[in-house]
Amino acid sequence: MVARVIEVELFDLVVFGATGDLAGRKLIPALYQRCAGGQIPHGARVIGVSRRAMDDVAFRAMAHAALLAHVPAADRDEAAMARFLARLTYVAADADAEPGWPALAARLAEAEGRIRVFYLATAPELFGPICARLAAHGLNAGDARVVVEKPIGKSLDSARAVNDAVGAAFPEDRVYRIDHYLGKETVQNLMALRFANALFEPLWNAAHVDHVQITVAETLGVEGRAGYYDTAGALRDMVQNHLLQLLCLTAMEPPVSLAADAVRDEKLKVLKALVPITERNAATATVRGQYRAGASAGGPVGGYLDELGDPASRTETFVALKAEIANWRWAGVPFYLRTGKRLANRVSEIVIAFRAIPHSVFDAGAGPIAANRLVIRLQPDESVKLWLMIKDPGPGGMRLGHAPLNMGFAETFGVRNPDAYERLLMDVVRGNQTLFMRRDEVEAAWSWIDPILDAWAGAAEPPKPYTSGTWGPSAAIALVERDGRSWNEDG
Ligand code: BG6
Repeated sequence: MVARVIEVELFDLVVFGATGDLAGRKLIPALYQRCAGGQIPHGARVIGVSRRAMDDVAFRAMAHAALLAHVPAADRDEAAMARFLARLTYVAADADAEPGWPALAARLAEAEGRIRVFYLATAPELFGPICARLAAHGLNAGDARVVVEKPIGKSLDSARAVNDAVGAAFPEDRVYRIDHYLGKETVQNLMALRFANALFEPLWNAAHVDHVQITVAETLGVEGRAGYYDTAGALRDMVQNHLLQLLCLTAMEPPVSLAADAVRDEKLKVLKALVPITERNAATATVRGQYRAGASAGGPVGGYLDELGDPASRTETFVALKAEIANWRWAGVPFYLRTGKRLANRVSEIVIAFRAIPHSVFDAGAGPIAANRLVIRLQPDESVKLWLMIKDPGPGGMRLGHAPLNMGFAETFGVRNPDAYERLLMDVVRGNQTLFMRRDEVEAAWSWIDPILDAWAGAAEPPKPYTSGTWGPSAAIALVERDGRSWNEDG
């Protein structure tokens, strides 16, 4: 299959925090890929902004190094990289001080009448000050858009404050809140699978689904981010956004269209239907863990507390929890969520575990009959597998086996799997908010998360230690086994 490239309109993209980690690791490589792929029109500009004094040449050299470090060698083409780097310019400006801002305004004024995007790849404390200065210079005018990324607050109250500050300069229909999981190909495939096939939707409910599992497991530790991470923890860093977004797309009613608000309205209803987890049930419905020394990716690794240098930290690097959605479609169907750092494997997947057959016509010699499972794997190898019972081939009577109908996207379609940021950046330019979070969604997610955080803060017990390279604390296994179920191990 051949990817279809549709050129976007002419734009100026201003990246605040242009010398930072997100810009170097994700934004610059994503823009290069789309530029090399022919989607970015001639004349479009990327304007890097940060506090550091630097000229265009130095910024381009920095961006070049980022491409060498983060774009796969097979996708790097000298001529395409040179064409891309020529679009980059740089302005030094500080969110908290006026110098530099007139220069930015002048740079933008060189090319009026094109789409303007401001990407705030900065610490969230700067979202408000940057938006205020953009407004003071009139740069928020017309249909200029702003892109912000998590953490959007640390709680409902602080999220509201961030949203208010951004909202003071940009109306909601020009605010793009990124959750990069929504840009992953297989997450979009979830919508294709559910709403472009007649097969699954009639079964997609409590009458036929026994439970759902959502796992986002990483082998990495907190790397160089322990400072940030210790103020967040896995519940804020991963569950409040990525895992709840996956849950919403899995559980939502069919939207009337893919228009942004049609999809976001349905996701919001799911968030509002989540049964609260409070101090009353947090001990039985949640498990939090913290990694200790162990082995990961074949080598020994240290523990979280050593990396952080603070033996007293109670920040969780692992969460497993049992969520319930109180509506007609899902009442009584547990959604088990788990995510953690330094786990045994890097794997992200959504498992729809169907109910067992009501009656077996086979005799005991046929072997056990496993219930069907649909496994939607986001990474590392994107695939959709439907696990079915079959007759084991060959002689030996009626013996049953368990085998997947397997669609691996790389082999099936043979196209490069784009990074989530590529799609999302182009959607901002196109003005399509479907894959971005609306304010009320973010706040509804915090409303559900806050009581869990409160319950944990009031609990005497610290997070349970787990050895790096395992699947987390044994209590996370008990969380599902207590209900007579097990985490998916079928791959
Ligand atoms: C980020 C988190 O949002 O997602 C990180 O802050 C995490 O802690 C990352 O490692 C995982 O993203 P991906 O795309 O590698 O699964």
